[in-house]
Amino acid sequence: MRLDKILGNMGYGSRKDLKKYMKYGIVKVDGEVVKKSSIHVDPDESIIEVNGERVEYKEYIYILMNKPVDVISATYDRNHSTVIDLLEEKYLPFEPFPMGRLDIDTEGLLILTNDGKLSHEILSPKKHIPKTYYAHIDGEVNDGDIAAFRKGIVLDDGYETLASDLIIIESGDISKIQLTIYEGKFHQVKRMFETRGKKVIYLKRIAMGDLKLDENLELGEYRELTNEELELLKGSTSNCKDD
Ligand code: URA
Repeated sequence: MRLDKILGNMGYGSRKDLKKYMKYGIVKVDGEVVKKSSIHVDPDESIIEVNGERVEYKEYIYILMNKPVDVISATYDRNHSTVIDLLEEKYLPFEPFPMGRLDIDTEGLLILTNDGKLSHEILSPKKHIPKTYYAHIDGEVNDGDIAAFRKGIVLDDGYETLASDLIIIESGDISKIQLTIYEGKFHQVKRMFETRGKKVIYLKRIAMGDLKLDENLELGEYRELTNEELELLKGSTSNCKDD
């Protein structure tokens, strides 16, 4: 891989900038100063240093965010802040994007990555990756709702949802529930409850596949996935049956 591509991907500047900086002898490969930015280097084999600091090259980034309300799950929005605006600058050269969407008023687990292949697999409607939500519902959630959700709900547009798993944590004027769905239709959780005459008033995603939200992350906070978490996420695609 070209050295300027490696350094560019890691946020050290554009190809043009790097050509200029490298003339000053600030970049070393395997201990030798390199002044030509176009040389080819294997980042897994060679030690690359900039200003004496080791460059740990990686192609992909995987960030676990506890999404707050009032930010959009998109890379750009004309009127609102996006989840990308919450990230430190050092992550931007990776060009991360959200893996799927949460509504503007939904909180919780959102993965940001630049791994298009994994994102495609996780979001594939054929994979039925489970997504688990915690919610507050205006209205009394009951066994009838559990049975209806288990059977499949016909939404307002005629689509019949797959069987989903509803757990009532607390039933009352305001009920607390946990719901696992195996697909990801637009506003799905809200629309499922609407067909039962009940309104979702608080919604938070707490799991996606085998990956769980880190409850130590405050709203708006994020961190990179650990290797174990990444394996759990990747494993979710093989644990779930294809259509
Ligand atoms: N279902 C919804 O209604 N909203 C979300 O953000 C996610 C699932």
